[in-house]
Amino acid sequence: MDCIEVALGERSYLIRIGQGTLEALPEVLAGIGATGHAAIVTDSNVGPLYADRTAELVRRAGMASVVCTLPAGEEHKRLARIEDLCGEFLEAGLDRGSLVIALGGGVVGDVAGFAAASFMRGIRYVQIPTTIVAQVDSSVGGKTAVNHPLGKNIIGAFHQPSAVLIDMKLLETLPDRELRAGLAEAIKHGVIADAELFRYMEESAAAILAKDLTALEYPVRRSCEIKAAIVAEDERERGLRANLNYGHTFGHAIEAVTHYEKFLHGEAVALGMCAAASLGEALGLVGADFAARQNACLTAYGLPVSWPELPVGEALEAARRDKKVRSGAMKFIVPVDMGRVVQRTDVTETQARKAFEALRRA
Ligand code: NAD
Ligand code: GLY
Repeated sequence: MDCIEVALGERSYLIRIGQGTLEALPEVLAGIGATGHAAIVTDSNVGPLYADRTAELVRRAGMASVVCTLPAGEEHKRLARIEDLCGEFLEAGLDRGSLVIALGGGVVGDVAGFAAASFMRGIRYVQIPTTIVAQVDSSVGGKTAVNHPLGKNIIGAFHQPSAVLIDMKLLETLPDRELRAGLAEAIKHGVIADAELFRYMEESAAAILAKDLTALEYPVRRSCEIKAAIVAEDERERGLRANLNYGHTFGHAIEAVTHYEKFLHGEAVALGMCAAASLGEALGLVGADFAARQNACLTAYGLPVSWPELPVGEALEAARRDKKVRSGAMKFIVPVDMGRVVQRTDVTETQARKAFEALRRA
């Protein structure tokens, strides 16, 4: 089992990665000094698969547990679910010393994490991520949130977990489309910070898509190392952390115009990465070979690299609206080389429009 530290002073924590690591939950709970009650928050797909085993392991740690099951899906990442969860926590006897265990994908992690951040002004939580998106991204770094009808992740808090336990075996039941979409975020980590990781993703598509857990472990571990280092340096996204949003300014706009229905998050990020590469080329930061290489890698994972029907005007409007809602400058993360990106706030609307337009013919 590999261990990676997220170094944040007294809020530091370990990410443990391996095959079968769920079985180490009692030691992890003992290691963080957890006692009393735990609420295992999961969703209606993951709960039937893994909640009983998790509850048994919590019992072995000498703790009482309750399982709180959210309906699966992004549409349930909303404030009403926080109130529901807090009610369930109270009924189960949770108090300020209790623990939340987030067992699921990014939706469960974000909702359970925000419930933990809010319940009695904040209790501790542990992440057990069960999707690639959650293992390589959302379970690490302490961003928790629910959506508002006017925007994604609008109501939330920075609240770091006390531990992250990544068990590759939990991916065995993950639907293939979810696996591929999550891998866009691992490829993204290669593009922004590690050319070697990107090369590995290029060379290992067959083994990774066959769910060879050993082949999958490297990009998960390397992604966690990259994210842990960035979060340790810039927890509150004052600068460097925004690099993790590569592909997301375009991607979020694509998710918004499709009402989060046509593309999974990682698929929209893949399209966003292609638009960011076009922008990099237009700004003279990378040559055409960069986009071609990135497209080939994304395509090898069955990820979209074009969308001929993209409504460019609407997407641009969605990106502008997102900027207004967040009252910040429209920030684009642009590649300068494989493994290196820069942040640009001087991109004109015409340049952004052209980058969206490139997706119609890529
Ligand atoms: P998700 O949580 O909706 O999970 C995808 C689907 O897979 C769901 O239907 C789920 O029930 C199912 N599932 C999960 N694990 C499974 C397993 N092991 N076996 C079978 N089915 C399983 O989606 P996601 O892609 O994991 O996460 C997307 C969310 O994460 C978005 O809301 C996004 O905003 C958020 N996110 C947050 C951060 C952050 O830093 N907090 C980073 C990236 C993404
Ligand atoms: N997912 C981007 C971040 O955690 O900053």
